[in-house]
Amino acid sequence: MQAAALKKKYLEFFRSKQHAAIPSASLIPEHDPTVLFTTAGMHPLVPYLMGQPHPRGKRLASVQKCIRTGDIDAVGDAFHLTFFEMLGNWSLGDYFKKEAIQWSYEFLTGKPWLGMDKNRLFITCFKGDKDAPKDAESAKLWEAAGIPKSHIFFLPKEDNWWGPAGETGPCGPDTEMFYDTGREKCGKGCKPGCGCSKYFEIWNDVFMQYEKTKDGSYLSLTQKNVDTGMGVERTAAVLQGKPSVYEIETFQPIIAAIRKQEKKANERSTRIIADHVRAAAFILGDQRHVSPSNIDQGYVLRRLIRRAIRHGLLLGIEHEFLSQLADMVVDMHGEDYPELRNNKEFIRAELIKEDQRFRQTLLKGLQKFSSFAGNLSGADAFLLFQSYGFPMEMTVELAQEKGMSVDTAGFQEEFQKHQQLSRQGAEKRFKGGLADASAETIKLHTATHLLNEALRKVIGKSIVQKGSNITADRLRFDFNLDRKLTAEELRKVEELVNKKIKEALPVRREEMTFKEALAKGAQAEFQAKYEEQVSVYSIGDFSREICGGPHVQNTSELGTFKIIKEEGVAAGVRRIKAVVK
Ligand code: SER
Repeated sequence: MQAAALKKKYLEFFRSKQHAAIPSASLIPEHDPTVLFTTAGMHPLVPYLMGQPHPRGKRLASVQKCIRTGDIDAVGDAFHLTFFEMLGNWSLGDYFKKEAIQWSYEFLTGKPWLGMDKNRLFITCFKGDKDAPKDAESAKLWEAAGIPKSHIFFLPKEDNWWGPAGETGPCGPDTEMFYDTGREKCGKGCKPGCGCSKYFEIWNDVFMQYEKTKDGSYLSLTQKNVDTGMGVERTAAVLQGKPSVYEIETFQPIIAAIRKQEKKANERSTRIIADHVRAAAFILGDQRHVSPSNIDQGYVLRRLIRRAIRHGLLLGIEHEFLSQLADMVVDMHGEDYPELRNNKEFIRAELIKEDQRFRQTLLKGLQKFSSFAGNLSGADAFLLFQSYGFPMEMTVELAQEKGMSVDTAGFQEEFQKHQQLSRQGAEKRFKGGLADASAETIKLHTATHLLNEALRKVIGKSIVQKGSNITADRLRFDFNLDRKLTAEELRKVEELVNKKIKEALPVRREEMTFKEALAKGAQAEFQAKYEEQVSVYSIGDFSREICGGPHVQNTSELGTFKIIKEEGVAAGVRRIKAVVK
């Protein structure tokens, strides 16, 4: 079964179990400033996993595009990828372990569905520790479904616990499904989860019962959720009896195109290029634009592109070749992700530009590298990064090839020092949205809506939000204006917000289409992308905004609003920082 058929069947199966299929969200998280990329299908759903009602109901399913760079060094083995598609189904306080496990089993083994041999399925469950008990219930449910006891293993938190996706948020024990490829065991202790590719992990059902808080404790969530994730590429490889994800039809044309151009063969390099070019095409082609840069998502993108170019050199490919491969990615996936098609030219142009930039310094950098005798210090690695554009892992790889080591901790120190000097990296990391869903953050979120409207009343209707970032300590709101606000204006804005807080206005949430929301005068963030169905928050008759929440119920919960800073952040963009006390 090909990947496309797998995705179709998955959504069909969960539709038959009353799930609404929702579209893939952006790769750039909207409401979570603690991570750079969407790493799982649950990521865009965090507010709903925390209790906010979802406009499509309590049972959802999706195919989500994901980026994970944590295992970038493992890319090239049988199953690690930086970009992948994830199938997922969710219960938002609706069904729990029993149905989730029954349906996983039915989808995997049922004849009309994937029809896998149940004797090749292996399961892991959470072993239990001081934070949560052993998940014997899940194991029983698997047995009841038809999995023999000898195929069920209990593992600790490192293996069988998922989340939170950022530093705080919903999480819980999980149960993972593995497929026995029939290969030799890697050793005596070989079992599901041991890391060799005998047992291929394909699906993970997470039982989200807890919220991890800032102080590291686990609180019980009032709403018990199910969050599942199945890797499309891995499962397609299993269904096709292929030994690695790179053998499936979405990789093969790319691999063949690389092979056609290479002068020397190196399987790992070919795979790294194929993976990285897919990731780069999807990041460049995302609905929220990202270009190569030296910070945040742009830096990850730059690393992926440059590492792919360097591995191209290892294969003897000395010309620009990624844009052509990216075209193939767009052609293959453009139907499922129309943003790729819309951005095809942008993807090409950015890849070509980055290739030119990098090749300009690459040879000089390689010469510099050869001049280093012995192991590289952090300062050497930072010089290669700063002056020649060598991403850290590239320097490490180069060193490894020559039997040298690199002081990576020293590099990080240099990197931090530099970032503190420019202050840019850290500031920009908090790029919009809420840092967490604590009571303080929620209050400041509602205060941000009041501030937005107060600015429009005091300065003028042309004010639009350009971005926001809210933590438990303060709110930050960016808007368009080409001058400083006067002290008088700041005072008036503050007064108006405090007046609305005193009026104890109710905060109301409604679902409507994006068009209806605009027709009702709801504010939208400048250039943000919205889905067809949106939620709108109104504060009395004072403010109305398209927003995913969460918010307080009444402005009387807020306390006193105080502006602590007003400053310019870019041409025509001002920033206000404020608190409620
Ligand atoms: N969040 C879980 C995972 O990524 C299940 O979706 O594995």
